Amino acid sequence: MVPEAVWLELEASGPRRTQDLVDFLAIPSVSTSVEHTGGVRQAAAWLRRRLEAMGFVTELVETQRHPVILAQRLPHENGPTVLIYGHYDVQPTDPDGEWESPPFSPSIVDNYVYARGASDDKGQLLTHLHALEAVVRAQGELPINVKVLLEGEEEIGSPSLPQVLAQKANQLQAQAVVISDGCQFAPGVPAITYGLRGLSYLQIDVRGARLDLHSGSFGGIVTNPVQALCQILCSLKNPEGTVGIPGFYDEVLPLEPWEREEISRLPFEEHGLREYLGVDVLTGEANYGPLERRWARPTLDVNGIWGGFSGPGAKTVIPSRAGAKVSMRLVPRQDPARINELFKRFVEGICPQGVRLEITEFHGAKPVLVDRNLPQVKAAARAIEAGFGRAPVFIREGGSIPVVNMLKEILGIEAILLLGWGSPEDGAHSPNERFSLEDFHAGTRASAALLYELAR
Ligand code: BES
Ligand code: MN
Ligand code: MN
Repeated sequence: MVPEAVWLELEASGPRRTQDLVDFLAIPSVSTSVEHTGGVRQAAAWLRRRLEAMGFVTELVETQRHPVILAQRLPHENGPTVLIYGHYDVQPTDPDGEWESPPFSPSIVDNYVYARGASDDKGQLLTHLHALEAVVRAQGELPINVKVLLEGEEEIGSPSLPQVLAQKANQLQAQAVVISDGCQFAPGVPAITYGLRGLSYLQIDVRGARLDLHSGSFGGIVTNPVQALCQILCSLKNPEGTVGIPGFYDEVLPLEPWEREEISRLPFEEHGLREYLGVDVLTGEANYGPLERRWARPTLDVNGIWGGFSGPGAKTVIPSRAGAKVSMRLVPRQDPARINELFKRFVEGICPQGVRLEITEFHGAKPVLVDRNLPQVKAAARAIEAGFGRAPVFIREGGSIPVVNMLKEILGIEAILLLGWGSPEDGAHSPNERFSLEDFHAGTRASAALLYELAR
């Protein structure tokens, strides 16, 4: 399917493309930090320049914060069109002391490139640009119409994307969308992802007395905000690992027997995962396996907590305030807006007397399931086999990608191909994030093959 000249071009340009990845990763495009606004813009400009050089017509769409880049090359009138999505923003780098090499000075060790964004998502997104570039160089033209949508706000919940998609709805129409922003099942086991969890994210602030108090003089007559917060947080999750918010499970789409059966046949090694995590036991909801709990069951986690004295030594004090950030991972049929309401009603109802409560909602994302039986999915499976030398398994993922639901709801596109080239052990969002160069090049080959498979 793929012309020999394309494979040769990919092979010959490998070292140059590795260097190109290093250059791209050196740009500090942290979307949440105001001090990196310039870096995010620089990454957008870098991508735009690359797409222009490949003969794409490009547009930089301004938003309230970070720009969206649209590009297209449509050589086949009335021919099929594929839309490639990626995000060029990255997560913050903290804890900075734990990086073995600086996060924006990419280093290559044992065929891995280490940098923030290496796997999530700059490295994965670049595979598609490199595939397009190689095809154009080798053949002079693409076998299919290609549109590109690159955003700089995914890691902050894609707040501007609904408006951009609605405004450019006609221009973005396609018969398939390709997103590489996730993982293979395991090293050497590529996957097609057909489900993602959604997300609700809230902050709880608890305020007590007007000022921090002497705990001897005033202990026994006021509610301690740190303890009130802890009581609230403990009620959110039961010791058996279920979420304690009434109504939380009402909408949950149960796992079907065929799916549990299929998941149980995946080559999953619990021991290896425990080793990677450095824990002796995996915990959570009873009666579900670890993969089921990560992919298809909802959960709740405290992401951070603060309040009171935590310096060395002892200080006798009743703090005047405390707070925590809480996220919930949602599964199909659960709606972030409804879950936020249930959360607020529950927390307000159990808040101890004597403190004031403030609850703030942050960005969320809807859970998704995508149709596995479309011909575009079969084309993706063949492309992965061509690129990775092994047919993919079907998996779900526990993370969230806000654009996926927007593509369905705003653009009406059903064929959404979630083709993650990363590995669960890449350390996305963690210190020392990395991406295997082998996966980088295999992903690029698969992307090139996909252009030809989808053109059929
Ligand atoms: N690429 C991830 C999502 C992901 C993680 C997909 C693991 C598949 C496997 C994405 O960049 C991300 O981190 N999303 C956020 C949600 C967003 C609304 C901030 C997440 O899942 O926490
Ligand atoms: Mn991502
Ligand atoms: Mn991410």
